[in-house]
This record gives sequence, C-alpha cells and structure tokens, in this order.
Amino acid sequence: MIPSQRHLFDIPDDIAYLNCAYMGPLPRAAREAGEEAAGRKARAWEITPRDFFTETETARDLFAALIGATAEDIAIVPAASYGVAVAAANLRLPPGRRALVLAHQFPSNLFSWQDLAEREGGEVVTVARPEDGDWTRSILQAIDERTAIAALPNCHWTDGGLIDLVRVGARLREVGAALVIDATQSLGALPIDMRAVQPDFLVAATYKWLLGPYSYGFLYVAPGRQDGRPIEQNWIARGGSEDFARLVDYRADFQPGARRFDVGEKANFGLTPVAIASLRQIHDWGVAEIQATLRRRTDAIAARAHNLGLTAARASLRAGHFLGLRFPGAVPEGLPEKLAQARVYVSVRGPAMRITPHLYNTDADIDRLFEVLGAVL
Ligand SMILES: Cc1ncc(COP(=O)(O)O)c(C=O)c1O
Repeated sequence: MIPSQRHLFDIPDDIAYLNCAYMGPLPRAAREAGEEAAGRKARAWEITPRDFFTETETARDLFAALIGATAEDIAIVPAASYGVAVAAANLRLPPGRRALVLAHQFPSNLFSWQDLAEREGGEVVTVARPEDGDWTRSILQAIDERTAIAALPNCHWTDGGLIDLVRVGARLREVGAALVIDATQSLGALPIDMRAVQPDFLVAATYKWLLGPYSYGFLYVAPGRQDGRPIEQNWIARGGSEDFARLVDYRADFQPGARRFDVGEKANFGLTPVAIASLRQIHDWGVAEIQATLRRRTDAIAARAHNLGLTAARASLRAGHFLGLRFPGAVPEGLPEKLAQARVYVSVRGPAMRITPHLYNTDADIDRLFEVLGAVL
C-alpha cells in the first residue's frame, strides 16, 4: 500500500479532490517541468533540431514500458479522438459487418465508428448495460462472425464497470475481428499488458489517470498495423526529417514503426517534458501498487456509503480506482451544491455519484465527503 502522496502535489488541505476521472492534477514535478519548458521556448535559440526528436523518444519509452510494448509501437497524439480516428482510417466496416461499442460509451470512441459505418455500409452495434454489471459476459455474447471491430474501454467511464480485455481480445481473434481500446480512464491506474491483450490499437489521453498535461496522449499500434495510413501528412513523420537542410527533398517513406502516425508538431516543447515528468512519477509508484491502493480506498468508501443506504457495483466488477455510488432514488436535492460548498469534488451523473480518488487523497478528504453526505441524507 502506498501512503498518501499529497506532499507531491499542490493541493490545499481544505480541498477534497475525488474527481481524477474528470481531470488528474499535475504532480509538482510535472508542473515544474512545464514552467521550465515555457522558459525554454522563450529562449528559442536553445532549441536545437535534435530536440525535435529526443524528448518524444523518452516519452514513447516511458509510455511503452507501462503497457508491455516498445517505443517502436507508440505514436504521439493530441487526444483520444485522434487515436481512434487513426484506427478507424485503417480498419474496414463493410455491409453486413459490425463494430461493437458499449452503451453510453464516451463519444471520442464512438463518432469515428459511426462515421466509418456510414461511409462503408457496416453497422455500429451497442452492447446494452448488463443488469448484473458483468460487461465482459455481455460483450462475449455479442461477438460473432459478423463482428469486424470492437471499440472498447478497459473500464466504463461513468462508473468504472470493468471489462476483461484479455478474454475479449482472445475471442475477437477467434472471429478475426480487430480490437481498439480507449484506455483514457484506466491507463496509469489499472495495469494492462499489450502482450496479453493483443489489441490492434490502444489510445490514452494523459490528462486523467496519467496525471499528465491536457492535449497530449499516446497511441499504441500493433506491429502488424504499423504500415497503415496516417490521417495527416506532416513533414516530421517522413523519413530523413532529422536533416532540416533537406526537407524539400520530399520523401515518400516514413519514420520507423508507429511514428508515421505522430501528430504534426509532435515535438510539443511545452507539453512533452510535462508528460515525461508525470510518466516518471507513475513509474516510481508502480501501476499495480496504485491500483491496489486505490482499490483499498474505494472499498472503504463503498463500505461507509453502504451504511448510509448507498449502493455500488460488486468489487470484482468494477475497477479499483472508480466508484459509482447510487442513491435509493435520485441524487438528493442540493447535494452537488453542498459538496462544492464544502470543497468536496466528485462528479454527479444521473442517479450516480462518481468518486475517483488518487494517491493525493487523505483519510481527512474521505471524512469530509461523509460529513456532507451524512448531513444531506
Ligand atoms: C473514456 C474517455 N475517453 C476519452 C476522453 C477524452 O477524450 P479526448 O481526448 O478525445 O478529448 C474522456 C474524457 O472524459 C473519457 O472519459
């Protein structure tokens, strides 16, 4: 178990921030890296052509090491939607074939599939939310010979409902379907291994559980997909782009591996150092250790909430870093306002309250949450 790491963040004592699924706060080291990066851009003469390549390689290495991949497999992307668009540009969905998504899936992993279906004549099929919370069983039941693509998360963004991607991946390979994962709500807090899951593509924005900057993300592309088509044609993804004197000797070949899918201006001097510092921090703690610690935290919150009549999904069916608490009826009148007044930050969605802690939380944060809940219920 990792003790509270509050000292590594700039979070005032009177803030009970339980909303990492909305926006992960930057660790102090990442903020300092960002300030240093802004200063460096002001001294433009210090930025060398070599710098356009070196830091992104460090970022790729660090991200790859989190998911059991290599730097060759990683592209730099600005958003989850961009990574999903790359996947959709390289997969087919002809008439009679299906792309599976979950009910109420996050839009960044839906619209590209709707667009592909419209263009190619296939169909997007939504897996309904299972009554008993067992998404894995429902997904396995939905997969058949018509399935061409499954576009899934590792856990549902609304309440952490868990999907066993190893089992789903194995079944998809049996029917010859592709697996595209949006791991934005799990990467950094829930272990995943590309060698075990074997997806075709996996994308994660860094601004939530990777505690990284906004507008920065990573796309894993399976080795067999690395000869695909990028969605934009930028100079730096082309072969030989390191030689600035010869950029107009236009070349048709690409940088090796998944780098062909890098977004334009991938060097991103302002944000790359921030992402690197955040990834280093996640590695220092260890993803499995983060998950175990947050699981203990959310289990304790669920047990206390149970005494107030609130219910949560079975622990085995939700990711440890997420808790969706349901009230007997609707969310009580005025609760979101009272929480905000007490500087307790959660997300309230429909009948459920989404509580997503991280290592910066303390026992006192949780006591504050229950003070407000106790007063309202
Ligand atoms: C599951 C999931 N994917 C992706 C995102 C962010 O998407 P994008 O990077 O396209 O803005 C969110 C934000 O809430 C999310 O919950």
